[in-house]
Amino acid sequence: MEAGRNTVVRVQSLVQAGLAEIPSQYIQPHENRPIHKKDNGAGIMNIPVLDLFGFDPEHRDSVRKAIGEACREWGAFQVTNHGVPIELMDQIRSVGFSFFNDCPFQDKLKYACDPTSAASEGYGSKMLVDNSNCGVLDWRDYFDHHTLPLSRRNPSRWPHFLPNYREVVGKHSDEMKVLAQKLLGLISESLGLPSSGIENAVGEFYQNITISYYPPCPQPDLTLGLQSHSDMGAITLLIQDQVEGLQVLKESQWFTVRPLCDAIVAILSDQIEIISNGKYKSAQHRAITNSRRPRLSVATFHDPAKKMKISPAFQLVNESSSPRYREVNYEDYVSSWYSKGPEGKRNIDALRINF
Ligand code: OGA
Ligand code: NI
Repeated sequence: MEAGRNTVVRVQSLVQAGLAEIPSQYIQPHENRPIHKKDNGAGIMNIPVLDLFGFDPEHRDSVRKAIGEACREWGAFQVTNHGVPIELMDQIRSVGFSFFNDCPFQDKLKYACDPTSAASEGYGSKMLVDNSNCGVLDWRDYFDHHTLPLSRRNPSRWPHFLPNYREVVGKHSDEMKVLAQKLLGLISESLGLPSSGIENAVGEFYQNITISYYPPCPQPDLTLGLQSHSDMGAITLLIQDQVEGLQVLKESQWFTVRPLCDAIVAILSDQIEIISNGKYKSAQHRAITNSRRPRLSVATFHDPAKKMKISPAFQLVNESSSPRYREVNYEDYVSSWYSKGPEGKRNIDALRINF
C-alpha cells in the first residue's frame, strides 16, 4: 500500500461501518491475547494508590517511603490529592472525547499526522511508521500534541472543533509538568539522591500529550487496544475515564488498573530504570478493549531532550553495585524504539550489562 496521509485506516471508522469481525491485521497471536476474566486478581492486588496529602511536608517521609515501595514492586501507581484541579481533568476528558465522538471524520482528517515520520503531531492510528516491522495493529485512534518545551508548542495544529480545546490542553500540559516534577523529586529522594537528581539527569522535559480513543471492539478477545510496551522516556502521567482497559504486568501476570476518577496513574519509563541503575523498573503495560463502551485516556509523557546522554546515577554505582546499563544517547534510544517496535521491554533489555 502506498504510504500516504490518508491510507492509514481509522479504527473508529471500522467500527462505524458495523464490522462484526475484526480485520486480520488486528488479530494478536495467541500468546498476546488478553484473557477477559471477571476478576483477574485486580480486586485484591492492584497498583498502589498513594495519597499525596496536598504535599504536606509533615507527610513527606511516609509518601517517599510508599513511592519507593511502589516503584520497586510495580513501576506504576495511582496518586490522589495530586494538586491537579479535578475540573481540569474532567475538561480534558470531555474535550478529548468530543473530538473523537462529535467532530466529523473529514474534519478530523485535516489534522492527520504524517504516518511516515515517528511520533509526528496530530490525529493517528498507527504508532509505528510504515516502513518499520510493525506487526499487529492496535485497536486505537489517537491525537498526539507536542507541548513542551514551549518552542515545540503550536496550538494552531490542535483541534479547533471546540473553542476551548486548545486552552484546556495548554493548561493540562502546565499542570502535568508540575506534578511530574513533584513525583520525580520524591522518587529521587526515595533512591537516596538529591530531590533534583532525576530531573537534572533528564534535563528540560520534552513533553507530549497523547489522547487515545479505544472504540468498542466486536472481538475483544482477539485484539489489543495498545500492544505490550514500556514507555521510553522518564515518567508518564495517565488520566483515564471510568472504562477499564489499562493493564500492568507483574510477575508474568496482567493486572487491570482500577479506574479511579480523580486519580492520576504514574508509569515509570525506561530512562528512570537506567538512572536508578535497575533499582526501579519501568512498567510493562498494555491496553485491552471491550465490546460495549469506547474508552478514552490522556497520557502525558515526560522525556529527556534528544541530545541527552542517560546513564546510571553515579551515587548508585559503587563497589557493591556496578553499572547495569550502558550509557545511551536518548536520540538513539528513540529511533531504535520506533524502528524495532516496543515488544514488551526489548529496547531497555538491549542496554543491560550482563554479568
Ligand atoms: C501509552 C499508554 C495506556 C492507556 O499511550 O503509552 O500506555 O491506557 N496508554 O491508554
Ligand atoms: Ni504506555
